[in-house]
Amino acid sequence: MNDIVIRLETESDYREVEELTRNAFWNVYKPGADEHYFVHTMRTHPDFIPELAFVAEKDGAIIGNIMYTKAWLEDEAGTRKEILSCGPLCVAPEYQRLKIGKLLMERSFDVARKMGYDVNINFGNPGNYVSRGFVSCKKKNVSFYQKGNYPTALLVCELVPRVLDGKEWMYIASTAADCCEDVAAVEAFDKTFPDKEKKWMPSQEEFYIYSHSSVVR
Ligand SMILES: CC(C)(COP(=O)(O)OP(=O)(O)OC[C@H]1O[C@@H](n2cnc3c(N)ncnc32)[C@H](O)[C@@H]1OP(=O)(O)O)[C@@H](O)C(=O)NCCC(=O)NCCS
Repeated sequence: MNDIVIRLETESDYREVEELTRNAFWNVYKPGADEHYFVHTMRTHPDFIPELAFVAEKDGAIIGNIMYTKAWLEDEAGTRKEILSCGPLCVAPEYQRLKIGKLLMERSFDVARKMGYDVNINFGNPGNYVSRGFVSCKKKNVSFYQKGNYPTALLVCELVPRVLDGKEWMYIASTAADCCEDVAAVEAFDKTFPDKEKKWMPSQEEFYIYSHSSVVR
């Protein structure tokens, strides 16, 4: 895997990244996928951070990518701190579990720290993130929607160790992903790609459980 280059996304990569995202997410979290539409619209959202949109390239083909938006944490006094939210993150199915996701995270974390960011939050499958420094939001006192609500899938990574210590926080997400609630727009965009069969996969039930549960103790 020595011939993998991690570099910033350019405008000429956009469609290839959307194709990759569609293929990597297809049927994983729902029959079909909407993450490619999220990627497509995110780039014009004010919370998008182009300096952290990285691709993994091998032999001239894009085989992985990671993107970020701004998000916020609010303390008990109502003071807001700007943080990062990563995602989508994906690797082409034929290259998964070869540490390319790890490379994308490590490179983007390094740049994020240099930009002054100290926290990264992701709503995702814990299995993909706990070995990369992410912990349950409960361990960092980060609530979502209401105080004391700690979603199982809400994962917190301190880019600077212990930076969240000593306070209780409320997570405020970007509105960037709200575009996916427009099912007709997602469908119309998806039709610009080749047909692909939508079907049920066990990973969908697994993520339903993670995304509809909370850590209570
Ligand atoms: C999630 C994803 C980006 C990970 O990228 P990757 O290059 O395959 O991952 P890596 O090889 O860097 O590491 C994966 C981590 O997942 C876990 N993992 C590894 N093999 C695994 C397996 N067979 N099953 C479940 N988890 C596994 C481990 O925690 C591993 O960390 P480790 O290096 O400490 O063992 C990629 O699998 C993907 O694109 N999946 C589909 C889209 C997706 O779900 N994106 C994330 C949104 S939450």
